Amino acid sequence: MTHSIALQFEDDVTHFIACTEDETVADAAYRHGISIPLDCRDGACGTCKSFCEQGRYDGGNYIEDALTDDEARQGFVLPCQMRAKTDCVIRVPASSTACKLRRSTLRGRLAAVDRASDTTLTFSIAVDPSIKIDFLPGQYARIQVPGTSESRAYSFSSSPGNHNASFLIRDVPNGKMSTYLRQFARVGEPVTFDGPYGAFYLRKIERPLLMLAGGTGLAPFLSMLNSMVAEELLHGDGDQRVKHHSIRLIYGVTRDDDLVGLEQLDRLTEQLPQFGYVTCVADSGSAHPLKGYVTQHITSENLHEGDVDIYVCGPPPMVGAVRNWLSEKGVKPENFFFEKFAPATAMS
Ligand SMILES: Cc1cc2nc3c(=O)[nH]c(=O)nc-3n(C[C@H](O)[C@H](O)[C@H](O)COP(=O)(O)OP(=O)(O)OC[C@H]3O[C@@H](n4cnc5c(N)ncnc54)[C@H](O)[C@@H]3O)c2cc1C
Ligand code: FES
Repeated sequence: MTHSIALQFEDDVTHFIACTEDETVADAAYRHGISIPLDCRDGACGTCKSFCEQGRYDGGNYIEDALTDDEARQGFVLPCQMRAKTDCVIRVPASSTACKLRRSTLRGRLAAVDRASDTTLTFSIAVDPSIKIDFLPGQYARIQVPGTSESRAYSFSSSPGNHNASFLIRDVPNGKMSTYLRQFARVGEPVTFDGPYGAFYLRKIERPLLMLAGGTGLAPFLSMLNSMVAEELLHGDGDQRVKHHSIRLIYGVTRDDDLVGLEQLDRLTEQLPQFGYVTCVADSGSAHPLKGYVTQHITSENLHEGDVDIYVCGPPPMVGAVRNWLSEKGVKPENFFFEKFAPATAMS
């Protein structure tokens, strides 16, 4: 039996799809050329969490981390698991532009590999100058580890629309991509990547932003901030309302060596007057002025009594710690977007 599902996106666009009872809503959407933001596809990460306004369904299998019982009772669903039993109306927390299948596989060449610190590398890939690498600032690409059939997810740190894309990478000892970049990479070598992926991208700025970065989780924020600068250059004065909203970044790392990109952040504070940042180091032996985790440096001014959009990116425990902190403090931001840099085994 087939049901009609209305997918309502956050930019007020609605797409109707036909969904059989034995396929998940995410699979049905995919058949119709719509890619609901997914990560695990397994009911484990919560990336696809949406809200079902009408209709009956089987919620499928998932873990509490992805969807709590309370959320399920309220009507939240995981499209990667849910199967419709009647026609349904589902609110998807992403823009229709981000969900249109327009992914591509690109072949480029390694344009640069640099060591930003003992623990961190940067690299960039250039494609043919006639091609513009298209993504929403904050999204990621899957990059094939040259000479293998494996790929790794990396957030773009540069802004979209150029024929060159940059990345910021933690140098993981014995890591496949890390070892390639550290030991074997040669500028000019061919590199294949595909994308864009992910639901972590800069939404329309309608209120103050609080960005929380853990380690190389700084990468998508650099992309977002660089694109704000690019927009500003393109549109001159731009939208005055956007300029009135403060943008604060708290960038936390484990050791002093992990702090990178500070020159770029300083430049961004000059280019974007509404932007400011602080850094903190968890290592108790560090001489850094701010110690501890990002949550220890969130001030009430950063939270605007909840009228704030919070973006968090970093290792899964850091994202979890921010969530717990917000719930312990009873802070309910208007929007909470996150990206977990979960280590991959093999992503093909
Ligand atoms: C959506 C998404 C976006 C990501 N974006 C970025 C990014 O912009 N920058 C970035 O640095 N990483 C990012 N990651 C993580 C990245 O995809 C890789 O997992 C990471 O770079 C390790 O890859 P590797 O091939 O070097 O190591 P692997 O060969 O995958 O791992 C080797 C060993 O190291 C362990 N390991 C892997 N990562 C870590 C770690 N961080 N700390 C300690 N041990 C680890 C693994 O469990 C494994 O045992 C992202 C992950 C996701 C899911
Ligand atoms: S994609 Fe992970 S829970 Fe649906």
